[in-house]
Amino acid sequence: MDKNINIKVKVWRQRGPEVQGAFETYDLENISQGSSFLEMLDILNEQLVRQGKEPVVFDHDCREGICGMCSLYINGHPHGPDDSITTCQLHMRRFNDGDTITIEPWRSAGFPIIRDLMVDRSAYDKIIQAGGFVSVNTGGVPDANAIPIPKANADMAMDAAACIGCGACAAACKNGSAMLFVSAKVSQLALLPQGRVEAARRAKAMVAKMDELGFGNCTNTRACEVECPKNISISNIARLNREFLAAKFKD
Ligand code: SF4
Ligand code: FES
Repeated sequence: MDKNINIKVKVWRQRGPEVQGAFETYDLENISQGSSFLEMLDILNEQLVRQGKEPVVFDHDCREGICGMCSLYINGHPHGPDDSITTCQLHMRRFNDGDTITIEPWRSAGFPIIRDLMVDRSAYDKIIQAGGFVSVNTGGVPDANAIPIPKANADMAMDAAACIGCGACAAACKNGSAMLFVSAKVSQLALLPQGRVEAARRAKAMVAKMDELGFGNCTNTRACEVECPKNISISNIARLNREFLAAKFKD
């Protein structure tokens, strides 16, 4: 049964991108283990406001594991200690009375800190804009069976499409590589006939944009796969490498 616990939270505070940050520690009492992690941060902010202090800035939107906004490093893990969930799906029953929980923003060259726990993840949007789309004429809805797609390919494309662009892969990687994200976004289209038309241009454009934005190289440490809340497989990285090489040979 859920009970109430007393905890300490050690939170990264930084007033702006160019200002030096530091950890500050706060005591929180009577936190229900039934609360979500983000509700605990809401309670912390109410407490800080009551004390006349600045609330902690952190990102969130859907709170349902869909949008990818809740980018927090919790006790040394992106999205916290549990597998296959986002920060907003983490609950306080994962923690015990007397625990100290360390909360940091993503730390990656590609994601500069805006303030406190909020980072600028627009680099991922720019990579998508470089090629993560199909150019098709819109019109009437075609019959579902007009373009046959092998079940295995449809399944793999759907698995790749589960990527929510949260950035945990780059944050977890010692090289700051965004390859898991880019490979998922390339794969979800490259596996389908509709995505083949622009496949070569897409792979080259998205990899070039990733490099331009300061993300590092992949050295197959697999940290990204371990920390990804949506279980995106590094087999997608192998597919991206094949797509990229094929496009280069074609040139
Ligand atoms: S691959 Fe996983 S960790 Fe990376 S952005 Fe997508 S969902 Fe997040
Ligand atoms: S707030 Fe949307 S995934 Fe966590």
